[in-house]
Amino acid sequence: MYDCYNRRINYLRVSVTDRCNFRCTYCMPEEGITLLSHDDILSFDEIVEVVSYGVSQGITKVRITGGEPLVRKGIVTLVEMIANIEGIRDLSMTTNGRLLAELAVPLKKAGLQRVNISLDTLNPMKFRQITRVGELADVLKGIEAARQAGLAPIKLNCVIKSSSLEEDAQQVAHFAKEHNLEVRFIHEMNLEKGYFTRVEGGDGGNCATCNRLRLTANGLLKPCLFSDIAFNVRELGTEKAYELALNKKPRSGHTNSTGSFYNIGG
Ligand code: 5AD
Ligand code: SF4
Repeated sequence: MYDCYNRRINYLRVSVTDRCNFRCTYCMPEEGITLLSHDDILSFDEIVEVVSYGVSQGITKVRITGGEPLVRKGIVTLVEMIANIEGIRDLSMTTNGRLLAELAVPLKKAGLQRVNISLDTLNPMKFRQITRVGELADVLKGIEAARQAGLAPIKLNCVIKSSSLEEDAQQVAHFAKEHNLEVRFIHEMNLEKGYFTRVEGGDGGNCATCNRLRLTANGLLKPCLFSDIAFNVRELGTEKAYELALNKKPRSGHTNSTGSFYNIGG
């Protein structure tokens, strides 16, 4: 499928929950987050229907995101259902790694190919500050488990304040090199203020070549992270939602006032 600016759309990011077992300062407010209610969240069958239709129209690359996707109950089953859709060539997940020590092997068996794991610092105190509740050691165990399970290539997502030369980023880069992992530096963004930038070492944030659509956990098909445009697959039906999302995908994004990262999936 192609959008109005002749960009070929072949990448779908699927947020399966807005919940998370961390509370990263740049992603979530400390309290008062309104979470989606159970009825609002798409069922596994609904997600599979939206992904399948996308794949029939040319989606070949699917990334499962959140919130934290591994806190969705039955996530291994969902991964298996998505992996069984014929035509997906690249099936990946973005996770904070907290639950990977237990889930890396089952996920690999279910058909997940690779993971991106968030890692902003190797300092346990700073890690706790950033995630508010997280334990660095758990994530390091998760990374090791992903490696052993063969969820390769593993990419580390490292959010930076100003430059990839800052100390924490450099330590993450060193760790990545040591362990044969790739690292992507992501400038801290503010969706509401419209601060967004390209991802160093990745494709995100480059409007001219943007190839993606997003599905939120409550069934909104969104053509652009930096815009409020969204089409509800339950209200419109899958086909119509895709048609509108494609036709309304903006040439470039500006601001997004309704979403934070935890409910769109970064
Ligand atoms: N700016 C940049 N990246 C963010 N993420 C979450 N919030 C932000 C933000 N404000 C990204 C992190 C994390 C992924 C799940 O989402 O890179 O790894
Ligand atoms: Fe959770 Fe990821 Fe947001 Fe941190 S950045 S709170 S790990 S969803």
